[in-house]
Amino acid sequence: MLSEKARQEIRTLCQQYPSHQSGLLAALYVAQQEYGGWLPPEALDEVATLMGLPATYVASAASFYTMFHRKPVGHHRIEVCTNISCSLLGADHLLAYLSRKLGIQVGETTPDGQFTLLEVECLGSCGTAPVIKIDDQYYENLTEEKVDHILDRITTGKGRAS
Ligand code: FES
Repeated sequence: MLSEKARQEIRTLCQQYPSHQSGLLAALYVAQQEYGGWLPPEALDEVATLMGLPATYVASAASFYTMFHRKPVGHHRIEVCTNISCSLLGADHLLAYLSRKLGIQVGETTPDGQFTLLEVECLGSCGTAPVIKIDDQYYENLTEEKVDHILDRITTGKGRAS
C-alpha cells in the first residue's frame, strides 16, 4: 500500500497538471519508487483510484512505457537500447554480451538480485550510440571493454563509471 506521503505526492501532481491523464506518468514514478522499483497490480489500482482514472487506462500506460516495471527487478536495472541507431552500432551484440556476462536472459534478474537486464526503445541519445542506461545514469559510445569497466565499478562499489 502506498504511504501517506506518496498518496499526497500524487494528489499534488493531480493539481499541478492540466489533467489527471497528463500527470499519470509522474504518479506512476512515485508509485514505482514506493514499491521498490516495480508496479504490482495493487499499485496500479491505487494510482487509478487516487487520480480518478479507469484502472485499464493506468495499466495500459504502465505496460506501454519501458521505464515502468511490471514485475520485481534487481537492485540495478540495465536498459539496453536496441533501436535503429544503437542497433546499427552493435547494440544487439552488446545485449548478447551482457546476457552471457550476467548469465541471464532479457527480462531476467541475476540470482543475487543485483542486475535486471532489459531491452528498451530509444533512450534519446542516438548520437552517442550504442547507449545503455543503468538506473538513472547513461553510458554512451559503448564497447564490451567499457561495459566490463562499468560493471566492475558498480559491483566493487566504486560508483559510477565514466
Ligand atoms: S536509438 Fe539508441 S538512443 Fe536512440
